[in-house]
Amino acid sequence: MKILFLADVFGVPGRRAVEEHLPGLRERYDADLAIVNGENAADGAGITPKLADKLLAAGADVVTLGNHTYRRGGIAAYLAASERVIRPANSGAEAPGRGMAVVEARNGVEVAVLNLLGQLFLPTPVSPWEMVDALVEEARAAAPVVILDFHAEATSEKVALATWLDGRVTAVIGTHTHIQTNDARILPGGTAAISDAGMTGPHDSVIGVRSDLAIARMRTRLPVRFEPAEGDVRLEGVLLTCTDGGRAEAIELVRVPA
Ligand code: FE2
Repeated sequence: MKILFLADVFGVPGRRAVEEHLPGLRERYDADLAIVNGENAADGAGITPKLADKLLAAGADVVTLGNHTYRRGGIAAYLAASERVIRPANSGAEAPGRGMAVVEARNGVEVAVLNLLGQLFLPTPVSPWEMVDALVEEARAAAPVVILDFHAEATSEKVALATWLDGRVTAVIGTHTHIQTNDARILPGGTAAISDAGMTGPHDSVIGVRSDLAIARMRTRLPVRFEPAEGDVRLEGVLLTCTDGGRAEAIELVRVPA
């Protein structure tokens, strides 16, 4: 079976690219399931209930999030009720929502999608290492195919977690840096892994933000209001091929101009 994963959807350009191209990409890749990271959908930081609904309507079966999950009004109540829009499982005991979605793919196979935050260089409430084993056990009891979106800054942490989970999950897909890495691979135990799947959004930018604004903030250290860039919009992510039993067979980079 095939699973399409689209990396961090950034602002209006990213969301429009998903709406325009996801249905066609699902067809072209013969995808049984589509997972979309929507953590930057609202102007580059967070997501609103309306935008989450738009990503689902465009063909995402599951939407994952990240460190900006609770930035926007209304999203906490939305997440508390949603089964398909999930936030990092290690967001803390008081955080509304769930860290796992179990959905049926088009071919009838159940797929568990997990979301975790890294703890290096991010203000993460609970160490992912503290809960990943129990979370993966729960997922494996619910579905043969298990996909983890690991939203983290450091490649070392992403490689370490993928190696720790090798043979226990179908794929560990890194997100958050918006820079697609060239290390998509199948680990010895049969788990697919990539450090970062990239960004669905404007690549003529500093990771999605207008370059002049990002550079001004770094150069001057003064507060500068960020705005999404507009140019060179691409959809990035990965296409996974796996057995119905959840063993990864292939992982390919997806990079498509919008
Ligand atoms: Fe992020």
